[in-house]
Amino acid sequence: MTADDKNPTSKTFPIASKDALKPGQMSCFDVNQRRIILARIDDEYFAFDEMCSHEDAELWKGALRKDHIECPLHGSRFCLRSGKPMEEPATVPISTYPVEINDDTIYIELED
Ligand code: FES
Repeated sequence: MTADDKNPTSKTFPIASKDALKPGQMSCFDVNQRRIILARIDDEYFAFDEMCSHEDAELWKGALRKDHIECPLHGSRFCLRSGKPMEEPATVPISTYPVEINDDTIYIELED
């Protein structure tokens, strides 16, 4: 992603160092007054909302799989790329955020 590809109303925030997570791990971070989960699958990183879109469940307590996160409360799975629920009871996507790595730092892009 180049600077020209970015949404003009968004900002990029450093979130963690590249070695903060091992493959298969996730962690929650406070970024610009939001709680964001950063997850690592193999050498790819994903950023998404901490809270499930269905009810008040913290997704970092759920199960991280190859391409989705499973909610710990009712079991809806959310695609890590699109945030879309893969089955009910959740019907509303969670927000996902672009991730980029520069040197050894992971950055995420958030709407301002
Ligand atoms: S709270 Fe996540 S599926 Fe119900």
